[in-house]
Amino acid sequence: MRPHAVCLDCTLGGGGHAEAILEATAPDGLLIGVDQDEEAIQRAGERLKGYGPRVRLFRENFKNLGALLKAQSIVGVDGILMDLGVSTFQLADSERGFSFLADGPLDMRMDRRSTVTAGDLVNSLPERQLAQILFEYGEERWTRRIAKAIADTRQKMPITTTLQLADLVRRAVPRPVRSRRLHPATKTFQALRIAVNRELDSLSAALSDAVSFLNPEGRLCVIAFHSLEDRIVKRTFKALAQTEPGRVRLVTKKPIVPSREEIRMNPRSRSAKLRAVERVRENTL
Ligand SMILES: C[S@@+](CC[C@H](N)C(=O)[O-])C[C@H]1O[C@@H](n2cnc3c(N)ncnc32)[C@H](O)[C@@H]1O
Repeated sequence: MRPHAVCLDCTLGGGGHAEAILEATAPDGLLIGVDQDEEAIQRAGERLKGYGPRVRLFRENFKNLGALLKAQSIVGVDGILMDLGVSTFQLADSERGFSFLADGPLDMRMDRRSTVTAGDLVNSLPERQLAQILFEYGEERWTRRIAKAIADTRQKMPITTTLQLADLVRRAVPRPVRSRRLHPATKTFQALRIAVNRELDSLSAALSDAVSFLNPEGRLCVIAFHSLEDRIVKRTFKALAQTEPGRVRLVTKKPIVPSREEIRMNPRSRSAKLRAVERVRENTL
């Protein structure tokens, strides 16, 4: 990244990437930081306050990035980053309900202004629709068993906590699956989180829009953490590069994945896949 660059971090989280971008674009690069989670805005704001007017933060869903940039009178940006998924601080806070490792309310909303929680879905969706969500967003094998266990349980009492749901899922899957390294509730939690936050819809809506705001030689980089997200990124990038070869170039034919060393230092990076596209400079054609 060059000095003077204007960059958009669509998934601010704790502000780690944003800080690295600010350092790389010193002394006068501008960082627009976006996160739909109010707490991310607070945390990142605290971390980045030393950069003063070089930082502008917005609590917003990145699917609205076009309107946000227009409102800031920004017509083009040099770099856009989407680091998808959940922040460490969101996972670590049991009150947010993202993790099955600690007890908390079944919430999972990144944006707490939205009204539907994971508990609402679990306690109100028809059994078939629940199974469908587990299948589509969790790629879960034991969807029918889990959806039935949820439907049976909620007839007796509402399912309100993370550990209650995790335990119910564990008991619903066949015995050999219970003792595998991956917790049997992993995919159920992923599926509910994606459904609550409509994650795939936002991603699909944002990608092409993001590319349209890139300056010549500007890049959009997306880090995906599961195959559903990565498939959307891969297909959208490929389609853009094929249909508009004079405008968009694939930077990564294959995704960039973490080295063994990086995984050792940061185990949560193990499933990360980074893909990037670049806006072509027209006179290079
Ligand atoms: C993996 S974390 C990002 C971590 C960040 N790169 C850092 O350095 O700390 C993903 C963040 O994106 C946010 N997020 C996810 N989907 C979003 C969306 N559609 N719009 C805005 N923020 C979103 C989440 O709230 C979360 O804070």
